[in-house]
Amino acid sequence: MPKQHESVLEREVIQNLNLLGGSLIVDGTLGDGGHAELLLKNTTSVRVLGIDRDMRAIERAEKRLAPFRDRITLVHGNFGDIKTILKKANVMNVDGLLLDLGVSSLQLDSPDRGFSFMRNGPLDMRMDSSQKITAADLLIELPDEKLVSVIKEYGEERFSKKIVRAIRQAQKKSAIKTTLQLSNIISSVIHASRQTKIHPATRTFQALRIAVNGELEHIKKALRDSVDILQESARVIVISFHSLEDRIVKNFFKTEEKGCVCPPKIPVCSCGHKQRLKIITRKPIIPAVEEVRRNSRASSAKLRVAERVYV
Ligand SMILES: C[S@@+](CC[C@H](N)C(=O)[O-])C[C@H]1O[C@@H](n2cnc3c(N)ncnc32)[C@H](O)[C@@H]1O
Repeated sequence: MPKQHESVLEREVIQNLNLLGGSLIVDGTLGDGGHAELLLKNTTSVRVLGIDRDMRAIERAEKRLAPFRDRITLVHGNFGDIKTILKKANVMNVDGLLLDLGVSSLQLDSPDRGFSFMRNGPLDMRMDSSQKITAADLLIELPDEKLVSVIKEYGEERFSKKIVRAIRQAQKKSAIKTTLQLSNIISSVIHASRQTKIHPATRTFQALRIAVNGELEHIKKALRDSVDILQESARVIVISFHSLEDRIVKNFFKTEEKGCVCPPKIPVCSCGHKQRLKIITRKPIIPAVEEVRRNSRASSAKLRVAERVYV
């Protein structure tokens, strides 16, 4: 049984959610239920609607949160479908939304899920195992140019062309079906960075994971929908783990904080855009040194908070 996922920035999440008695909070990334448990333990009447696209996460969190059975609703689904999920649950508005992005330790530490280049397993990487396309499928199906751009953009990998050439070379001999096969192919052409010491396969694995799960699109969609479901003064909290995620959140909050977004030369506003969010964290909150010492996964975490305003 994989060990429990260690939730990041726990105190900071609680402090920033503005919890009131009777609040309904959506935890869009339930994972191992760590943040949800914290919310439920720290309050007596807050309710949590927890969503995860990974059925294994839902099953595990259900056990962990059993003592709070009467205050939770758990849904196997995608936070990108938050409006539909809420509609089905007969919920119009919520008092807070938490998104703790990326994968959980449960997913990373389970070799059969294929997320880690450190553990051998099928090259899978699907968060939702009912989805069809795996990372191994992408390596076969994507044309060279598209694969290069996926690795370059989602992995921020400057050696993407070299990596794709090595992948194609290897595929002439046999299909790439496992994590270690892919990781060895990358290591044979790229050296670990001397400064950061990060493993040469890190960026490519991140890129494939993002592509397999359509991660960035779902984040954009959930943020867009969040403003329609948050009550006045309700907060959206997002914890991101790499710059692609953080940039999306930062830019979205900035745009939604503006009133008119017409080009500066236009004398009369024609966009009709209204301010919908107030940014609470001008700079992202990052974990304290002690937290990073205890949990290395926290080292890249950034937490941003915005509050719904109705003007
Ligand atoms: C970092 S973990 C969350 C950990 C959790 N906050 C805790 O304290 O235990 C991220 C979780 O979000 C889920 N996830 C990622 N993208 C998702 C999406 N678009 N919709 C629903 N769940 C998603 C993953 O399956 C994973 O279980």
